[in-house]
Amino acid sequence: MGLDNSGRKSVNAVDADEINIEEYNQVDPESFDCFPRRELPLDLFHYKEEINVLVPLYRSGTPFSEQLRKQARALSEAGQLFFSRNQQASYVECLSSSLDVAVEDPNLSSADVADIFAEQLVALVDEMFVNPRPDVLEMLGWALDLLAVFVGVDSRNAAHLAATAHRHRTRQRQRVNASLVAVSLYCLARDHAVAVDDLSRIALGFFLYDLGMSKVSRLVTDKCQQLRPDEKRRMQEHSRQGVEIVNRLGLTGPEIEDPIMQHHERLDGSGYPAKLKGSAIGELGRIMAVADSYMAMITDRPHCPGRDPAEAAAELIRKDRAYDSDVSRGLVTFLKDITF
Ligand SMILES: [Fe+2]
Repeated sequence: MGLDNSGRKSVNAVDADEINIEEYNQVDPESFDCFPRRELPLDLFHYKEEINVLVPLYRSGTPFSEQLRKQARALSEAGQLFFSRNQQASYVECLSSSLDVAVEDPNLSSADVADIFAEQLVALVDEMFVNPRPDVLEMLGWALDLLAVFVGVDSRNAAHLAATAHRHRTRQRQRVNASLVAVSLYCLARDHAVAVDDLSRIALGFFLYDLGMSKVSRLVTDKCQQLRPDEKRRMQEHSRQGVEIVNRLGLTGPEIEDPIMQHHERLDGSGYPAKLKGSAIGELGRIMAVADSYMAMITDRPHCPGRDPAEAAAELIRKDRAYDSDVSRGLVTFLKDITF
């Protein structure tokens, strides 16, 4: 390597003395086809096996011409296209909009895949809030089918979903984070003995649990002062409105409706909209209530950092008149297992 005019290292070739092929990963053609078209955030190398040399093919951030794309595609077919493991985050970024390929890519860790799921689900749930249309619902259902398989193939992946929810505790992600935690808590409650088809349907209820909030004015949702009685009534209507929206899209049944209708109900009857008590609140409603409240407690807000996850979990366990403490204790189990 030498220095170019700007003083940066110019990569001519990484020769046999320098390369350790273990530090590079192969790009397979299916993954390559999902890369962005015009410019990549990733350097690419042509591995010439016969002389054990990695030749730079593309430098990140420069134009990725059609001709270069064809050449790189052919190299990936031949197993000769590589990227540096130092650029793993950029590789993940290249696949961030291709869930189906990402779940199959051996270069990605389960934590990487969980992050991609979270990002895609935020986009799809946001879209459902704006356009609750059948085609958007179909995309969400497809993503959740993949999520159910991801969790089904390895029970540790449920913890990876909880971990990604803890890593990105922003208000923009709060609802999806709560839904990810709800999926994880459900798998834990069932000791991971969950059929993939059942889980993908249940996950749909979890990810649409707050859809009715799309019907509440931002003047109400963003209000800093205490809500007036009429505003409070409108806010509390969002559970029913969420069920109405999903019913209009042809989704019915307790596995879908309970998380939506019951996530603000409390065991002691202090919740809303129906002031249900005890066993009248279903398992999925109880899980969603814990996940929603927990994520609200630990999420960073303007001028107010989120609370410590362990403290928040302990508080929910203490509030066992309102929340199912068996469910809340599941949070503690995750916090022992996950790194974030
Ligand atoms: Fe809600």
